[in-house]
Amino acid sequence: MTFTSENLGGHMAVAVGGIDLNRLPDPATQAALRDQLNHNLVLCIRGQQLAPPAFRDAMARFGTPMLRKQLASTEECAEVNIISSEDRDVLGDGKKLVNGASWHTDDSFMREPCSLTMLYGVVVPSRGGDTQFINMHAAYDALSPEMKARIDGLQVVHKYQSSRQTNRVSKRPEDEMKAMPEATHPLVRTHPETGRKALYLNANRMEQVVGLERAESDKLLDELIAHAIEPRFQYRHVWREGDIVIWDNRATMHKANADYPEGERRLMHRVIVAGDAPY
Ligand code: SIN
Repeated sequence: MTFTSENLGGHMAVAVGGIDLNRLPDPATQAALRDQLNHNLVLCIRGQQLAPPAFRDAMARFGTPMLRKQLASTEECAEVNIISSEDRDVLGDGKKLVNGASWHTDDSFMREPCSLTMLYGVVVPSRGGDTQFINMHAAYDALSPEMKARIDGLQVVHKYQSSRQTNRVSKRPEDEMKAMPEATHPLVRTHPETGRKALYLNANRMEQVVGLERAESDKLLDELIAHAIEPRFQYRHVWREGDIVIWDNRATMHKANADYPEGERRLMHRVIVAGDAPY
């Protein structure tokens, strides 16, 4: 199977075309797609039309799909979550909920956060609703030698509901909240496949740097976040219906934008695949 490729963001993100994932790629094509993802961190596969089980099966070629109860799932396939303009905080105040509206990496409150997220644009608005990404390898590389030495070896506690949180997250049942894990992860992680270092930040989930006083920890995390979100490290994905966008949570942050016209629909199907404990 051959495919076309188009560089999207310069320093990250590539789009490939000429693939119909209703037919699973042969091993050589799958390896080439994985290579594109490893080098570009965001891989867009254009022009798909997939029922939830076919979406799950195609994504399973990249890793083991995982169940997540925090989001609704499709009826046909529990591993395919729904992110929609119709999402509401049903157990909370019932108001509209925009999942992922501030910079984050998926799942960092888990001890083994998912490695990849796949979002499939089933219905996209006429304008707006872009997803923004940050290349966290580039953000790490651009730090001063002094800052690299300072943060080397530091660990950070991540929580589902961090006290630093700026984005509203959906209220969950009490028993689920109590059982919600927290995890301690390195501030700088090494990508297990490429060996490159990346800043590992999650603006919405980080609680505190281990061993630092709260004020000093907040100052350091705020400084690193302000650095990482500089426009020079960003790519903004403008969705086309049928895009599948796959990103590497081990070396990116991302953010949803709910700036599309009132009354227009945005419907995404999402799969995440298993990862390892960061090191
Ligand atoms: C997410 O944060 O996973 C959702 C991104 C989006 O809807 O653009």
